[in-house]
Amino acid sequence: MAGQGKTFKIVTYGCQMNQRDSEMMADLLQAAGYEPVDDEAEAGLIILDTCCVREKAENKVYGKLGQIEKFKSANPDLVIAVAGCMVQQPGAAERIRQQAPYVDLLLGTHNLAELPRLIEEVRKMRRPVVAVQGGEGPVVENLPRRRARGAQAFVTITYGCNNFCTYCIVPYVRGRERSRRPEDILKEIEDLVDQGVIEVTLLGQNVNSYGRDLENKVTFADLLTMVNAVAGLKRIRYVTSHPRDFTTELVETISRLEKVCEHVHLPVQAGSNRILELMHRGYTREQYLELVTNLRRHIPGIGLTTDLIVGFPGETEEDFQETLDLVAKVEFDNAFTFMFSPRKGTVAAGLPGQLPQEVKKERLKRLMELQNKISLAKNEALVGEVVEVLVEGPSKTDPSKLSGRTRTNKLVIFPGDAELTGRLVNVRLTKAQTWLLKGEISRA
Ligand code: SAM
Ligand code: SF4
Ligand code: F3S
Repeated sequence: MAGQGKTFKIVTYGCQMNQRDSEMMADLLQAAGYEPVDDEAEAGLIILDTCCVREKAENKVYGKLGQIEKFKSANPDLVIAVAGCMVQQPGAAERIRQQAPYVDLLLGTHNLAELPRLIEEVRKMRRPVVAVQGGEGPVVENLPRRRARGAQAFVTITYGCNNFCTYCIVPYVRGRERSRRPEDILKEIEDLVDQGVIEVTLLGQNVNSYGRDLENKVTFADLLTMVNAVAGLKRIRYVTSHPRDFTTELVETISRLEKVCEHVHLPVQAGSNRILELMHRGYTREQYLELVTNLRRHIPGIGLTTDLIVGFPGETEEDFQETLDLVAKVEFDNAFTFMFSPRKGTVAAGLPGQLPQEVKKERLKRLMELQNKISLAKNEALVGEVVEVLVEGPSKTDPSKLSGRTRTNKLVIFPGDAELTGRLVNVRLTKAQTWLLKGEISRA
């Protein structure tokens, strides 16, 4: 086999889409005989799976390339590949080649399946290779059997995005939305369950619009109903939900299906109608608030999380106050908060009223302070409850303890045997912090 005796390391940036792509590349490489290693310094092949959603994400990749250049001087046989979203941007390949001429392979998001062959090409030809296909790219099925990595798995249901939110680069680098056929998704999940998986997270930039492009129309609610029927599966999660496409039918379906977890990640982005319109989000703050009320009415105790952007072009202090007001009204369990980062080629990058970095920073600080208070209060209200936790393994911050997540997606740390990893246990919550809860296994 081509990879016999060779090693690789993949460094992943960005969202779950990239995590899933990285897993797929690892499966392809292992099927070709390559062995994974933890330490980059020991790898014969290093792949950076990149993100370009904000400037900071790109800077991290250039920083990393600088670090691994020295491995190349020590080992001229080392193959360095840059894959992922960054490579898909117009002109990016040239930019990367200029800044890091020692990169051997540039691999677009639609070319992942060709990875083993392209590495061989690099090795044989001893020259850099660029494989970046624009547009949509095919929905590739029947790749080598995917390996389960523990009890949890990401399963992609749609690729790309049709929404063109004015700040966002994703539709440009991932192409238009393409849904996988339900039978392919179900087959993959059944195979994962056979390998011991009990929780799947269905992935798409907008899972709610799943199936619109398929010949036999299937809605996301239909898909959830089918996945719910897979024997042996215990939990179903899904990201990301677009508020505009969250129908009442879907709310009712989710409340009915026992395996679908009580958590929705529902990015709102901003609280001012004027900014929401400039962002091209397709809903008003009133519609968003109504959806939240509807979700909470149908699914009591549901965990709600969101994404928020501060400092969108033209955002006034009044607009920002409306974001703070919405956050206070909804009381999210948690929020990912970002400063607007202009992305070349998007509409928002060219809008008037770009705000200085200090204004963005100061707004971000105020927003985070408010959300942190809310997160803590929401967690404190749960102390004393007994909740079901899927054990993920030793905690990263305190390896003597275990960590896991509730159905509502709360992180819980508690003492216990590492052998419980991958199992569902009942935990009594004893202490609340902003980002997590502490507890102890409940035998009751
Ligand atoms: N499709 C998902 C959605 O609609 O929310 C996720 C998109 S993106 C991978 C994750 C988050 O990054 C977005 O929800 C948004 O808050 C943020 N984001 C995207 N583009 C951004 C930009 N140019 N500047 C700052 N934040 C951005
Ligand atoms: Fe980007 Fe909007 Fe698509 Fe999410 S829905 S990926 S924010 S364009
Ligand atoms: Fe995800 Fe970043 Fe690409 S957020 S889709 S990895 S640009």
